[in-house]
Amino acid sequence: MVKININLGERSYPIYITTDYSGLAKSIAVSKITGKMALITDSNVDKAQGKECIDALEANGYTAHKYVIEAGEKSKNLDTIKDIYKFLIDLKFDRNSMLLALGGGVVGDITGFVAATYLRGINFIQIPTSLLAQADSSVGGKVGVDFEGKKNIIGAFYQPKFVYLNVNTLKTLPVREMKAGMAEIVKHGIIRDPEFYDFIDYNVSKIFNFDEDALQYLAKVNCSIKGSVVEQDEKESDLRAILNFGHTIGHAIESVYEFKYLHGECVSLGMVAALKMAKYLDMIGESDVSRVVDTLKKIGLPVSLEGIDIDEVYNRMFFDKKVKDNKLNFVLPKAIGEVIQCVIDDEALIKKAIGDLQA
Ligand SMILES: NC(=O)c1ccc[n+]([C@@H]2O[C@H](COP(=O)([O-])OP(=O)(O)OC[C@H]3O[C@@H](n4cnc5c(N)ncnc54)[C@H](O)[C@@H]3O)[C@@H](O)[C@H]2O)c1
Ligand SMILES: [Zn+2]
Repeated sequence: MVKININLGERSYPIYITTDYSGLAKSIAVSKITGKMALITDSNVDKAQGKECIDALEANGYTAHKYVIEAGEKSKNLDTIKDIYKFLIDLKFDRNSMLLALGGGVVGDITGFVAATYLRGINFIQIPTSLLAQADSSVGGKVGVDFEGKKNIIGAFYQPKFVYLNVNTLKTLPVREMKAGMAEIVKHGIIRDPEFYDFIDYNVSKIFNFDEDALQYLAKVNCSIKGSVVEQDEKESDLRAILNFGHTIGHAIESVYEFKYLHGECVSLGMVAALKMAKYLDMIGESDVSRVVDTLKKIGLPVSLEGIDIDEVYNRMFFDKKVKDNKLNFVLPKAIGEVIQCVIDDEALIKKAIGDLQA
């Protein structure tokens, strides 16, 4: 088991990186959480992972109540939150009780929001099972739900007691989801760590063959990079915004195509467009751009989109909740491993980069 710490003063917590569920009960005991326990999961993860996880708890004398939500983003709403509140009230959950989020980002965000708000905050543990959740959403404490068609518009910052990351859960994850999760990992390399970028590039086949050492190393560096950014800027005032690399255009594509493409697929396209913008601004050389394109292709992520509607994507960027004073913020790379944040108001340049995504 590999342990890393996220240092956030009194909200600090460990991330345990493991290859099975056998250490989960002990991790709960070590963090001195007692009280009732509810495992929140979704219908797919329950089938693929639920039994193994609950068996590991029961083998150590724990009883976990289980609540299963329907898999998918459509469950990430206040109705689901209300249903979970009712479930907890019926079971007489109190301030010592705990919630375990077994699943991807949807389960993590929902469970975290319930934990943040039920009785003004109860214990919460993240057991991320998708690559996106292991690399991104389980670290950082952002929790919440969608509302009136707006993603993540209701939420809180609420840190878990710990994250228990079992890399072998990825074996049951659909491969398209696995590829999509890799986009955030490539992003971490580009924004912060050229050696990690090299590691990803050289180890794509090991990763997709579930090599335990490669996956544990991947998880460790990912959580450290995201963790270090969050430690320096927990509530996203400045530095944390670099995590949005590839997301300004990526989110717009996601929205224009009505979530037909997975988030990671859109981030892949957004990163390619951001790299092209950086190239046009003479910030980065062509060789770095083609290197990233090659890595993304090797992973099986899209680097172009047939018939992309340039104007629609451009206009949609201004709808993003992060846009202030109608100015578009971009995170652009100076090299693989270093990015800067900038405001760009050159419509022609932005549209040229979006147009480059045309297949
Ligand atoms: N809190 C944050 O900081 C943060 C960051 C990024 C994304 N998010 C949120 O995360 C969500 C996306 O997360 P996601 O991509 O994990 O989506 P998800 O939770 O919907 O999981 C993707 C799919 O894979 C299935 N699945 C997950 N793990 C599995 C496993 N081990 N075996 C079999 N099936 C499995 C799920 O049932 C689902 O169908 C979005 O709602 C997004 O807003 C949050
Ligand atoms: Zn993302």
